[in-house]
Amino acid sequence: MTAKRIDGKQLSDAIKADVAHRVAALKQSGIQPGLAVVLVGEDPASQVYVRNKAAACEKAGLHSEVLRLPADITEERLLRTVRELNLDNRIHGILVQLPLPPHLNSARVIETIAAEKDVDGFHISNAGLLMTGQPLFRPCTPYGVMKMLESENIPLRGAEAVIVGASNIVGKPMAMLLLAAGATVTICNSKTRDLAAQTRRADVLVVATGKPGIVTGDMIKPGATVIDVGINRLPDGKLAGDVDFDSASEVAGAITPVPGGVGPMTIAMLLVNTLEATERYAA
Ligand code: GUN
Repeated sequence: MTAKRIDGKQLSDAIKADVAHRVAALKQSGIQPGLAVVLVGEDPASQVYVRNKAAACEKAGLHSEVLRLPADITEERLLRTVRELNLDNRIHGILVQLPLPPHLNSARVIETIAAEKDVDGFHISNAGLLMTGQPLFRPCTPYGVMKMLESENIPLRGAEAVIVGASNIVGKPMAMLLLAAGATVTICNSKTRDLAAQTRRADVLVVATGKPGIVTGDMIKPGATVIDVGINRLPDGKLAGDVDFDSASEVAGAITPVPGGVGPMTIAMLLVNTLEATERYAA
């Protein structure tokens, strides 16, 4: 069997086009959604992500500001910058690109973002709202994965969903969204005793570890839907996911490629979250 390739680029383009229409409508009433992206230091991958986020905003008609701050900035200075953005009426969404340099307390920085501008959905009150089934902002990557599953009509009620990776950014919120959709959810972590035994039970398998090739075809249930959240730069310069695409495609029913799978969806959902933050603000 050769798995169906789930095209995140195409779906994200459709979502971004819809955002652009809604942005144009808001502009008619004199409001332009605005996103501020804060980048601390010069991590090369973060620079690329931030550039792509700003470019997508501008293309969809949002106002975007990128604040590039030095790697040795003090926590107090960074918190002051975030508080200023909280009060800035042109800014409806604030995103602090992670990871931050080690001398900065990420949790403290995220908690300083006003929850109603936290378009990443990482603030503790947004995490709590998601967990209790009243989400304000869904974290962009898991939200994008849900949109992909929805557009492919993948059944989730009663499905076995297995997530490999338990991060606050992807694994944990992914679990909450799949649970809310009626799936039976297992979250695996680096201590999981027999990873293959878990992944082989999955009707829907989401892999978000940052370890290239951690999941291979022999670990996948025939016909399963496989969502690869990993984006890894290999020593030869190529990009690879966490799933070994060639062997997995032989077994899965549907699979996301890297690049062109989940990555573009994350940015599209950031635009959706920023637009919705603005619509709530304007209402
Ligand atoms: N670093 C990796 N992914 C993300 C994300 O979705 N948001 C932020 N702020 N930083 C990230």
